[in-house]
Amino acid sequence: MNIEWNNGASSAEAAGDALCIIISETELDNGSLAAEWKAGIEHAAKAGLFAGKLNQTYILPLGEQAPYPALILAGSGKEAPVACELRVLAAHISRAAARMKAEVLGIQLPESLLSQGALAAQALAEGLVLGVYRRKHYKQEQTPYKGPASVNLFPQSSVEAGVELSMRSGIQRGLAFADATHLARDLTNLPGNLLTPSGLAAAAIEVAERHGLPAEVLDEREIEQKGMGGLLAVGKGSVHPPRMIVIRYQGTGEWSNVTGIIGKGITFDTGGISLKRAPGMEDMISDMGGAAAVLGVMEALGRLRPRINVVMVIPAAENMPSAGAFKPGDVITTLSGKTIEVLNTDAEGRVVLGDALTYAREWGAERLIDVATLTGAVLSILGDVATGAVTNDGPFMQTLLEASERSGEQIWQLPAYPEFRELLRSEVADIRNAAGRFGGASTAGLFIGEFAEGLPWIHLDIAGTAFLSRERGVNSKGATGVMVRTLLEYLLHLNME
Ligand code: BES
Ligand code: MN
Ligand code: ZN
Repeated sequence: MNIEWNNGASSAEAAGDALCIIISETELDNGSLAAEWKAGIEHAAKAGLFAGKLNQTYILPLGEQAPYPALILAGSGKEAPVACELRVLAAHISRAAARMKAEVLGIQLPESLLSQGALAAQALAEGLVLGVYRRKHYKQEQTPYKGPASVNLFPQSSVEAGVELSMRSGIQRGLAFADATHLARDLTNLPGNLLTPSGLAAAAIEVAERHGLPAEVLDEREIEQKGMGGLLAVGKGSVHPPRMIVIRYQGTGEWSNVTGIIGKGITFDTGGISLKRAPGMEDMISDMGGAAAVLGVMEALGRLRPRINVVMVIPAAENMPSAGAFKPGDVITTLSGKTIEVLNTDAEGRVVLGDALTYAREWGAERLIDVATLTGAVLSILGDVATGAVTNDGPFMQTLLEASERSGEQIWQLPAYPEFRELLRSEVADIRNAAGRFGGASTAGLFIGEFAEGLPWIHLDIAGTAFLSRERGVNSKGATGVMVRTLLEYLLHLNME
């Protein structure tokens, strides 16, 4: 999507397939509407078709002589919408434009939006792009329309040069964040047969090469040689062997103050020998949603080039039951030297992530954030509404929570009580990989935390938020690319400190 800022130009003279006018309930009540469209809008309001309610949209056809075939009326509610509301409103606007297959869309920006500066511009761009995402399909009949190709923004009054510059940079940032989220959504939506661990590695190499970032992919031989027993064990059951994928982004002269972002890359999770039941198992194509998110982050970093240092690590494997698969009762030795007693092969994410955290440390990470579709338990607590977090560092968590308030991706911190860690005690190994039903999201997180070995660490369980059963907010059905924008908000703020 191309988004153009038209300072000083009048929307009434420009052409396109539709013009969107953002209207508040108050404007509608007191009739303070632009003269050109006033009659039509009031007509729609009188007929009960449009009331200015937040996120309400109505398509109003115009006559032959009008510069646009139709107006899209978009409600902004009673108060001026804040950035997070604006993002969702923008998603509704581009969906309305998509309903009429508009290619060129104009939007009139109200005063209230202009006064919010770059954050509002970013949110607007994000919402417009994110709202019209559709999962790629494999039907013989193709639908070429992909949402509006270009959007022209018309500020209601022309703004001064400084404001214009910051609005333009907000738009560019929003586009980069949204495109990165789409990359993550596309990867997550790929079926298991079309995305294997080596396919995920190829996708990562593509991102790295596009931006000239150094990358490394370890194959199953190298994974074994290095002693990554966790990733090796989980990958053993599949004919598609595991991969350890690393991309480095160095934005400063020295490789220091490095943030490690680690994403669970299970390209399909059958549960392995501890096989899952059949209903809903197809959703396990999304068990690499964490990997897709951290790869999306690298894509945006490559494009935006902030002055920070980040290492991305993805442990990629397919969890299958077979004659070669790992089994309950197995004891495995990880890269860290810690041993794991396997109680349930369906608790595979934490096993591969242990090695990945250790590897991120080896690459110089000084703080760690892992993103994983880790537990069904987090769905019992937070549903598909918020991502669950477990941490060993309060202030670090606080900064990430602030980033999530800017991105609008909700995160709720879960307790990391020592009593939960106790539940992971094993008689034969340093730790066991499953701890029973109680506190399942916390115990899973604490398992991973063992491998942070004292580094500041945050675990983000996106099992509920990575893949939705229906459209909501800026997200469409299926993959959401959740945490791409939150991690980017967090990382780009490091740049300013
Ligand atoms: N990938 C699943 C978690 C999951 C469940 C993601 C639902 C998305 C939706 C994970 O590997 C898993 O199977 N976890 C088990 C752990 C248990 C065996 C301790 C679970 O949550 O049931
Ligand atoms: Mn599993
Ligand atoms: Zn899994």
